[in-house]
Amino acid sequence: MTATGAASAAARKAVAILISGRGSNMAALIDAAAAAGYPARIALVISNRANAEGLAEARAKGIATAVIESKGRDRAAFDAELDARLKQDGIEIVCLAGFMRLLTPGFVQGWQGRMINIHPSLLPAFKGLDVHRRVVEAGAKITGCTVHFVVPEMDDGPIIAQAAVPVPDGATPDDVAAAVLAQEHVIYPAALRWLAEGKLAVSGNSVTMRGAGSAEGALISPRP
Ligand code: GAR
Repeated sequence: MTATGAASAAARKAVAILISGRGSNMAALIDAAAAAGYPARIALVISNRANAEGLAEARAKGIATAVIESKGRDRAAFDAELDARLKQDGIEIVCLAGFMRLLTPGFVQGWQGRMINIHPSLLPAFKGLDVHRRVVEAGAKITGCTVHFVVPEMDDGPIIAQAAVPVPDGATPDDVAAAVLAQEHVIYPAALRWLAEGKLAVSGNSVTMRGAGSAEGALISPRP
């Protein structure tokens, strides 16, 4: 590596990804960060479950992993251990990627503005679990996914990016999940890039992105 290359590598923000399961968003972030010029490097993947499938994939991609088991643990004790590990490893940004454990307000406040999450709906609609089944049952014609800053309230916080997808007639929750997940893998690496580049400004609930191009057109479902 050249001296310039080494310097820019050092300037990349150190990111930890927190997972609980499959880890497909984790993999999308790792793959994006492997590209030349990406402003963040995935330094660590932490799971709160030892059997999370994503751990093996992270290791296979050459990323350091850790397990901080949460089952039966007091929330404050778990969060204190997590916080200590993140600081010990010099982590600057935390990405929640299918991390299915509530974090204490104290922990969240300590990482406010530096911790982001992906949720498989167009927030503030369909917070919580079992989103795609509820979307289908509600008869929604459009759904999507959201990347947002994490605040103490679950599935809340300033929205960085969203992608919308149609819900075709007869779509099952699994169909919707697959269509939404494909878009999650697009917007999460984009949002992390903008955060790591320092392009995001938060004012109240609004996030503005310096140099953002406005999206055009409309998604109408079904097509008229
Ligand atoms: C993703 O769909 C993510 O949006 C969702 O869990 C899935 C994890 O998949 N997160 C939430 O519901 C958080 N409220 P992955 O492990 O393959 O990334």
